[in-house]
Amino acid sequence: MDMVNSSAVPFSIALVFIAAVITKVAWAKITAVPASSFNNTQPHPPEVITSITSAVRLLHTLVTKGFTSMLQEQYTKLGSVFTISFLGMKTTFLAGPEVSAHFYQGLESEISHGNILEFTVPMFGKDVAFGVDIATRTEQHRFYLDALKPAKLRCHVAPMLHEVEKYFAKWGQHGTVDLKQELEQLLMLISARCLLGKEVREKMFDEVFSAFHELTENSLQLTSLLFPYAPTPTTRRRDRASARLSSIFAEIVRSRKSSNRVEEDVLQNLVDSKYKDGRHTTEAEVTGLIIAILFAGKHTSTTSSTWTGARLLSHTECLEAALEEQQQIVKKHGDNIDYDTLLEMSFLHCCIKEALRMHPTAPIFLRKVRKNFTVRTREGYEYEIPSGHTIASPLVINHNIPYIYKDPDVYDPHRFGHGREEDRVGGKFTYNAFSGGRHACPGEAYAYMQVKVIWSHLLRNFELKLVSSFPETNWLKLSPEPRGKVEVSYKRRMLPRSMLEN
Ligand code: HEM
Ligand SMILES: *[C@@H]1O[C@H](CO)[C@@H](O)[C@H](O)[C@H]1NC(C)=O
Repeated sequence: MDMVNSSAVPFSIALVFIAAVITKVAWAKITAVPASSFNNTQPHPPEVITSITSAVRLLHTLVTKGFTSMLQEQYTKLGSVFTISFLGMKTTFLAGPEVSAHFYQGLESEISHGNILEFTVPMFGKDVAFGVDIATRTEQHRFYLDALKPAKLRCHVAPMLHEVEKYFAKWGQHGTVDLKQELEQLLMLISARCLLGKEVREKMFDEVFSAFHELTENSLQLTSLLFPYAPTPTTRRRDRASARLSSIFAEIVRSRKSSNRVEEDVLQNLVDSKYKDGRHTTEAEVTGLIIAILFAGKHTSTTSSTWTGARLLSHTECLEAALEEQQQIVKKHGDNIDYDTLLEMSFLHCCIKEALRMHPTAPIFLRKVRKNFTVRTREGYEYEIPSGHTIASPLVINHNIPYIYKDPDVYDPHRFGHGREEDRVGGKFTYNAFSGGRHACPGEAYAYMQVKVIWSHLLRNFELKLVSSFPETNWLKLSPEPRGKVEVSYKRRMLPRSMLEN
């Protein structure tokens, strides 16, 4: 689930802290373990054994240069596969597409999420996700894939557009806004409409989102993460919010069933989902699945649409190219936007993708090794990664490898365009913003669609300027986001269509 992403940074920072405080060994030892000559076992990856000194040094790099630089320093020094060991707990980093296949594709019996996501059980309930066995979880993942597959997405375009138009109609002729806050609001309205359905959007919006906020805030408190079942005030608030959401969704499901009403939203798809043995999802399962989807989609959508805006508004050439694309599409189809029009916005698509390359919602993914495996590095070394290790796929490295992404520090949406396609250079696992393989985000197409609906509307209808300086990344947030306000000034284009056609 998405929380891997979210928890990754605090998790790694916590590791560094703990190591700094407790480990007693004197100096950092970097030991590339050579192939053992007297048995046939494979060598293990080079290892950074953290002592106080090295932990302090890592921490120093982390604080002064940021999380990315800290990892990149190790990557440069040790190569694409290296282990950082803290207090006997080893995390092996697999950086770059050459060493990533098993991480993303390994069977659940070989590579698993481990217990990293146990804390989601009291959030989503014990009937879904990490509360259930792997077979059931796999089927529930299929429910998501079915509910969000392209054929099912067409029906969301009109309601999304409606929300977007209504929202921006409230803006004045000109003004200044905090883009991050505006997009967060708008995306909640869209989620309410397309994921949760009319009932919530029209009658229970505030109630649902305040309960959802209570649920997530209190679940992610350190005390709840460490002692999820202790009777503390936070866990009680969490459980009350969860109970409130359960009764709301149960009520909606019952009312739809009793009146034979069928909607087109994602909630309906989850209600209609069936396990292989023919059993329908229960009310508790539907509630858990829909809360989890809201959790997975909310923050990711807000940050990705905000970063896209901040990047576009800081790169005149890209902004003009994106506008030019909109003009071409308006010329061809008029003001109408439907599913196919959205698919034609390929440059805008690349702009979003490039924003996510530079600002992935998850800086690293973590997994647990359940069965030894061998990895062959680009340099030709073979290492064995033993069962029990935690493995990490560091997006902050993967997305910035210079032999794959030319000038990785430059925002350049054209890199994904025809002829270059840098995201394919290293095969399937070159670009990981939506994870990949077995646990790939089922909401990818939906997410692009939603951000395109918003940004095509903004480009067509407003002249926009980034007023504040380009936002820094707040790494201390659960899922990194633009720090502070993202102030944007807008001026309504008076006659969007005729002006665009000039
Ligand atoms: C730009 C926006 C988004 C990004 C970057 C993103 C990224 C991701 C990633 C990386 C994962 C996998 C995490 C892991 O490896 O465990 C994931 C999982 C998931 N995402 Fe997204 N996501 C986005 C938007 C959405 C949206 C809008 C939805 C729903 C409409 C969604 C639904 C899900 C669900 C349900 C899962 C968990 C799937 C499962 O394991 O069963 N995501 N997302
Ligand atoms: C897995 O690796 C560990 C450590 O290298 C080793 O002791 C163990 O024998 C290996 N297990 C198998 C099944 O190969």
